[in-house]
Amino acid sequence: MLGTFVLIFTALIQAHVSAYHPKSVAVEGRSLDQIYQAALKEPKTLTIAWGGDVKASGALIKSFFETKFPGMTLNVNLDLSKYLDGQADLKYASTNGSENGADVVVLQTLQNFPRWKSEGRLLPYKVSPWHDIYPEFVDKDAAYTGLFIYSFGNTVYDASVTHLDPLPATSGGFLAPEWKDKLILTYPNDDDSILFLFDKIIEKYGFDYIHSLQAQNPLWVRGTATPALLISPAYNNGTNTSNSRAISFTTTNGFAQGVAQKASTDVSISWPQTGAIFSSTKVPDSAKLLFGYLMDDEWQQLMSGDRFATRKTYDKLGVFNQSGIDPLAFGRFMSDRQRVEALRLKIEAVIGPPQGVDPVGQY
Ligand SMILES: *[C@@H]1O[C@H](CO)[C@@H](O)[C@H](O)[C@H]1NC(C)=O
Ligand SMILES: *[C@@H]1O[C@H](CO)[C@@H](O)[C@H](O)[C@H]1NC(C)=O
Ligand SMILES: *[C@@H]1O[C@H](CO)[C@@H](O)[C@H](O)[C@H]1NC(C)=O
Ligand SMILES: *[C@@H]1O[C@H](CO)[C@@H](O)[C@H](O)[C@H]1NC(C)=O
Repeated sequence: MLGTFVLIFTALIQAHVSAYHPKSVAVEGRSLDQIYQAALKEPKTLTIAWGGDVKASGALIKSFFETKFPGMTLNVNLDLSKYLDGQADLKYASTNGSENGADVVVLQTLQNFPRWKSEGRLLPYKVSPWHDIYPEFVDKDAAYTGLFIYSFGNTVYDASVTHLDPLPATSGGFLAPEWKDKLILTYPNDDDSILFLFDKIIEKYGFDYIHSLQAQNPLWVRGTATPALLISPAYNNGTNTSNSRAISFTTTNGFAQGVAQKASTDVSISWPQTGAIFSSTKVPDSAKLLFGYLMDDEWQQLMSGDRFATRKTYDKLGVFNQSGIDPLAFGRFMSDRQRVEALRLKIEAVIGPPQGVDPVGQY
């Protein structure tokens, strides 16, 4: 009886798996220029769904890509990842599975990729530097690839304001009396990466941390770039108007000029921002060109600086060598939607629902 059940069960699983045959793909053997020549034979326009919360980041990839490959037009659909994945699914549903609304997708909502793969919606592709990417960050069938490492949790501050020393370097430090009314923080209930950062903080300090933090009267904002922009003396025209709201740990210094960061010695997070090519693309060589460019030297250098990368060559500080940080943990967190939603609502009950301008429209 049990044997029969196991047989049927195994057959069912095989039937399910056989619905999608990822063909073993070879590593791209063409140079970027050869792919470019092939892309020029296609309609020369492609669309990327680019998860992010500042227009500038979408404008940057568009301008670099179009400058590097004259004749190509890159339409950037920039929005929060949590909206872009839904848009792709709606398009897929409304076109009976023939479209996904973009050729290439780059998102922080990592839970989508295994599902899209199992639905046969991703085009397996191994970029030319495939073997330079840590294998932990790629799908074994090359349906999706970790493109670059994003991190949050460091203390971000106005570099021109020296009296802020000594700055906190631990989550507990932000609860000290001198930081009352001084914090600018992204709503964790509006962005799952920040929610994950708070999950790690709660793991260490307990949920009471959220009550204590709220008692510090932080300015809660939407978007992970917003704190850096509000802190930046450049954004505030050097008027020091931001200095009454001086520090954050939910942003990075990369988002604005004149802000610096002090490394956390406590809780912080890193994860691979992940990308894929939709198999519905009508411009596969253009999509491969863009994907190849994202993993090629110029863009990798720009995205990693002297810090972390999914490509070993650019991973200067060692993404897997960070004390207390598992860069694969975010993917597991994102896949456990029940836990994510429960935590979101628990925090929302203390700090209130996300309010304020949509950062994508504002900055
Ligand atoms: C949708 O796709 C299925 C399977 O390919 C097909 O049988 C059906 O006719 C399609 N429906 C429409 C409205 O195109
Ligand atoms: C900074 O100055 C410019 C030019 O005077 C002005 O347009 C802009 O609104 C100012 N920005 C802020 C945040 O005050
Ligand atoms: C901002 O305030 C700090 C501390 O009061 C001061 O040292 C600094 O010169 C000010 N910067 C500007 C641009 O006014
Ligand atoms: C990370 O740690 C391993 C093992 O200690 C070491 O071999 C490697 O060079 C480190 N990576 C970086 C980028 O520091």
